[in-house]
Amino acid sequence: MVTDPIVPQHFLASGASAELFDIGEGRVIKLFRDSVSEEMIAREADASVHAGACGVPTAAAIERRTWDGRRGIVYPRLEGGTVMDWIRRNPMRAGWALGRMGDIHAAMHRAGGGTLRPLKQVLATDIAYGPAPVALQRAAIAYLDMLPDGEALTHGDFHLGNVMMTPQGMMVIDWSKAAAGHPAADGVRSEMLMRFGIGPTDWVTNLWRDWAAGRLGKSHMKSSAVSAHDINAWRPVVALAWLRARDAGRTPAFMRYLDKALQQVGLPTLR
Ligand SMILES: Nc1ncnc2c1ncn2[C@@H]1O[C@H](COP(=O)(O)OP(=O)(O)OP(=O)(O)O)[C@@H](O)[C@H]1O
Ligand SMILES: [Mg+2]
Repeated sequence: MVTDPIVPQHFLASGASAELFDIGEGRVIKLFRDSVSEEMIAREADASVHAGACGVPTAAAIERRTWDGRRGIVYPRLEGGTVMDWIRRNPMRAGWALGRMGDIHAAMHRAGGGTLRPLKQVLATDIAYGPAPVALQRAAIAYLDMLPDGEALTHGDFHLGNVMMTPQGMMVIDWSKAAAGHPAADGVRSEMLMRFGIGPTDWVTNLWRDWAAGRLGKSHMKSSAVSAHDINAWRPVVALAWLRARDAGRTPAFMRYLDKALQQVGLPTLR
């Protein structure tokens, strides 16, 4: 089979894991950094196709390609920028955008996770390989075991930089952390990313981040069957799992958040 050569024409964007280039005919190629595992790339491509097939607004992978020895995924090109960029230009409409994002998060969770890895297993592994004391790890994994599995399509990295504002509406990108699990776990994950993830951490921004996370969470709950009780139940295990890979700001505030979440469900705290 002869495939047309890929020619990255214009550099579009650069993220933590990859660089994006326009390749013409309404397509882009996402070229991954060497540090990204094969498993992550395969999952991102598969999950985007699955999400697209389930009716989630997204750019579904067209094919896997390598270019100049670099591994890539070809996607349809989306017009516009991320919701983060959009909010910077339209700060007064942030509440509306976050509300809409919450609706999309809830709609995503109405789709099933298909053959994606079970989220509870991912959380248990991350807790077990994370830095928490063994006694807490054991107690947390036993607690996690009792929570419902859930079988929803979960994104795992649903934040302002992974949703694009296009003329066709918001579109979800970057599916490398997708799994099949409980919607509340994915809601907690977004809350943490918005409040304590990578980004500026001056006090004004922190106030805004906390407000924005609340706004997104409220909209998600309003549009779904997820309750505040569910969020409280999942928060300690999702936060503990995040300790394994966390390389982001507001560490003291995050540790207080984690301890409060553990205490709320009767698990041992870190301090
Ligand atoms: N299909 C697309 N069409 C146009 N631009 C895109 C598309 N997908 C991604 N982008 C742009 O490329 C940027 C990086 O994409 P993406 O979030 O998938 O990469 P990443 O390296 O995994 O990012 P992160 O920094 O979150 O790890 C996005 O913020 C967006 O601006
Ligand atoms: Mg991204």
